[in-house]
Amino acid sequence: MRLMRNTMQLKSQMKLSKTIEEIRADFPILSMKVHGLPLVYLDNGATTQKPEQVIRLMDELYRTANANVHRGVHFLSDIVSEKYESARETVRAFINAQKKEEIIFTAGATASINAVAFSFGEKYVREGDEIIVSEMEHHANIVPWQMLCGRKKANLKVIPFTDEGVLDLEAYRGLITDRTRIVAVTHASNVLGTVNPVKEIVAHAHRHGIPVLVDGAQSIQHGVVDVSDIDCDFFVFSGHKVYGPNGIGVLYGKEKLLNDLPPYQGGGDMVANVSFRKTTWNELPFKFEAGTTNFTGAIALAAALDYLTALGREAVAEREQSLLERATAGLSSLRGLRIYGTAPRKVSVVSFLPGDIHQYDAGMILDKLGIAVRTGTHCAQPVMERFGISGTIRASIAFYNTEEEIDALVKGVRKVTEMFD
Ligand code: ALA
Repeated sequence: MRLMRNTMQLKSQMKLSKTIEEIRADFPILSMKVHGLPLVYLDNGATTQKPEQVIRLMDELYRTANANVHRGVHFLSDIVSEKYESARETVRAFINAQKKEEIIFTAGATASINAVAFSFGEKYVREGDEIIVSEMEHHANIVPWQMLCGRKKANLKVIPFTDEGVLDLEAYRGLITDRTRIVAVTHASNVLGTVNPVKEIVAHAHRHGIPVLVDGAQSIQHGVVDVSDIDCDFFVFSGHKVYGPNGIGVLYGKEKLLNDLPPYQGGGDMVANVSFRKTTWNELPFKFEAGTTNFTGAIALAAALDYLTALGREAVAEREQSLLERATAGLSSLRGLRIYGTAPRKVSVVSFLPGDIHQYDAGMILDKLGIAVRTGTHCAQPVMERFGISGTIRASIAFYNTEEEIDALVKGVRKVTEMFD
């Protein structure tokens, strides 16, 4: 991730193209009140809010440009197909893939990982083979591989992480054997915030001829992601975590790999010719887009990506880093509070526990103060197991959050601890 690596050096050079007031005005939900208090939305890791530009576009599409994609020669179908393919090009450019055909629209990051686990697994994984994931994965990048291992009698191996939340790369190198078929690792941890050295992980796997899937669900929204630079074989992300709608996501795969893989779903549009004697597959990317895709979602996702690009992705990351520093400093100043995930490179996510106060109790009190944070295991139970805890409170910050909101969080957590004292 070029941007996150350079964030510190770029400081004070990057400027958002809008003021924070203008940005907040773009997101209608941010001016909402919760329990009579202004909403402080710090659950962006779970889902991000949507700008007017995306909301309005979806409304407009259903009013003026709705017909099934790639299915007709009529006016409306043509318009939709053109917008859909143009959205694909927007995604390609956003992640710097080499070709538009390498961008597959799916229902989300989870669907993308399941697609690879099934398709790649069918073709390349045999009994006794090995798949490597990390201990800090979201369940979406664990369970599909476990299911594959179950089907194929293969083995799942796990890269551990340190107390700070940094992947143990020496252990990773030691896990690779001649039975390793694929490595699947997150770009950024949804709990710890750690930005993993995916380029290094990929380079090492490639020296052994092993492909790598990078889960970008928690990195795509925080900076400039360049899949050509990372050189990963697959990259996945969800639209709803990057200011787009839910139910849409992306699977990027290198053309050669995608061409070699069998489709994972059969249906309309993914076929070239169907007969009871023999059915043949459509070309990329359609081979992996069976059925009517979420074309409205894809077009709206492109609008969300355009919004970020216009705002300045490097400036977005810089602002988030500054809010992260403020949150980390403020929370660290509270007596008895522990932060989980103190890696040197993080996205704007802070997981913490104030003493032995239960995360749900704290989360409910914060909610009464209008503050939305996530509590629990964050779909990453192995991370909790690693620390011997049942869950954390997680504040996940977006560029539209303000310094005052971060201070409100710190004040709110202080109030929680005082109540329990
Ligand atoms: N994966 C989402 C999160 O981290 C839901 O909250």
